[in-house]
Amino acid sequence: MTKEIILHAFEMNSAMHNSHGLWKHPDSKRHRGYKDLQYWVDLARLLEKGKFDAVFFADVLGIYDVYRNSKTPSIRDGLQVPVNDPALLVSAMAQATDHLAFAITVSTTYEPPFGNARRFSTLDHLTNGRVAWNIVTSYLPNAARNFGLEKMIKHDERYDIADEYLDVSYQLWEGSWENDAFLEDRKEGTLINPEKVHEIKHHGNYFNVEGPHLSEPSPQRTPVLYQAGTSERGRAFAAKHAECIFVGGPTPERIRYYIEDIKERAEKHGRDASKIKFLCFLNVIVGETTEEAERKYEEYASHWSPDAAKAQYGASGYDISEYEVLDRSLPFEYTKKTEGGHYKAATLTKDAPKKLTVGEVLDRFETLDRSTIIVGNPEEVADAIQFQFEESGVDGFNLNHFVTPGDLEAFVELVVPVLQKRGIYKKSYREGTLREKLFSTGTFLPADHPGSKYRKESVKK
Ligand SMILES: Cc1cc2nc3c(=O)[nH]c(=O)nc-3n(C[C@H](O)[C@H](O)[C@H](O)COP(=O)(O)O)c2cc1C
Repeated sequence: MTKEIILHAFEMNSAMHNSHGLWKHPDSKRHRGYKDLQYWVDLARLLEKGKFDAVFFADVLGIYDVYRNSKTPSIRDGLQVPVNDPALLVSAMAQATDHLAFAITVSTTYEPPFGNARRFSTLDHLTNGRVAWNIVTSYLPNAARNFGLEKMIKHDERYDIADEYLDVSYQLWEGSWENDAFLEDRKEGTLINPEKVHEIKHHGNYFNVEGPHLSEPSPQRTPVLYQAGTSERGRAFAAKHAECIFVGGPTPERIRYYIEDIKERAEKHGRDASKIKFLCFLNVIVGETTEEAERKYEEYASHWSPDAAKAQYGASGYDISEYEVLDRSLPFEYTKKTEGGHYKAATLTKDAPKKLTVGEVLDRFETLDRSTIIVGNPEEVADAIQFQFEESGVDGFNLNHFVTPGDLEAFVELVVPVLQKRGIYKKSYREGTLREKLFSTGTFLPADHPGSKYRKESVKK
């Protein structure tokens, strides 16, 4: 069978996500609509019509405040602020759909694992197994201060915390309740068999959790685990835990490098690396004709906000305003180590196709970067997607959009039918939970995944 593209819509429960300044576009509905449940229900129905596998909700816990050491540029342009809790949208969106899944970002750095485990179990029950957790370690200094820390925890230690966080979560999801705990024995007067519900008694470096888990086992037990982050430590973490991994990179070769590296590391953990799914970003501007798509691009570019783009780059931990005073012909390089997101930092250095000057870097923020966007008519867009799909070794994409929901509507109407006709995109959904749809290994974590070792014998059967 031909491999089919896995498709996610890259979203955020926010006025603006990654399309800096595009709230000024007359067709933008999101910056007002995101507070309205109907907006999200309509979006869920649209994505299911387009056979998207999932909507992927990004999330942050603070304001981007590295650029110019200020929150002002971010707030002024609504850069991922205001931002509401994504998990609270899911019940309504699930009620309006049958197959669409929901990948929700939650950080392991600030909120302890016990409540998070219950949140995901609840959603997994209510969606009948359609949830995934995008595990992030957070990169915003303001988020640290919002949760009572003076400074961000160091980059690599954030991943150490995340490792233990996952360990606790597996114990709660996989080991705490046996499958047959729920008895409903009217004669004996036992609803739940206490012998089948176990405390976890976790005592670690960062967390102490007695248990048992408060939720009974949900359709997937552990939600499908997603991760993004391409630092050394991030790749080590992904290789151990993640089932779906987002890899960013400017060229198919760079993406392929990250994929091969993570696969090699996963094999060392005894995992079948061929089962891990890799996704990358996809930016599309499609029109009925090439000319219409080009016009759209020009129009979008005219609304672009360089300040918001520079503020978002602060996720790397580097303040790009420090470079604005330098000689533009100097080679671009970082002078100090970052505790921010290495993935973002690498986009301008080791992941860039060539060594950049300060001027070239600054110019990149000035307009909507055409080199990262597929612009064209439906056939041209499908050609470019097919090329990326086949050349980079990815299993699918996280589709970004500039004007919402218009760009997603155009994609569903114009591009999806072409991909379907080419046999590289599904025409109907598979049955089952998200894990069953994505993999052929059943609804629970596969036996070679480190989380499955916490499963009781009675559950393994
Ligand atoms: C597709 C994609 C989506 C991401 N979504 C989020 C997010 O919603 N919230 C967040 O805090 N970080 C997000 N990140 C950042 C990473 O998860 C990660 O925390 C960051 O890149 C730092 O990791 P690294 O230093 O290992 O690269 C995302 C990254 C990518 C590539």
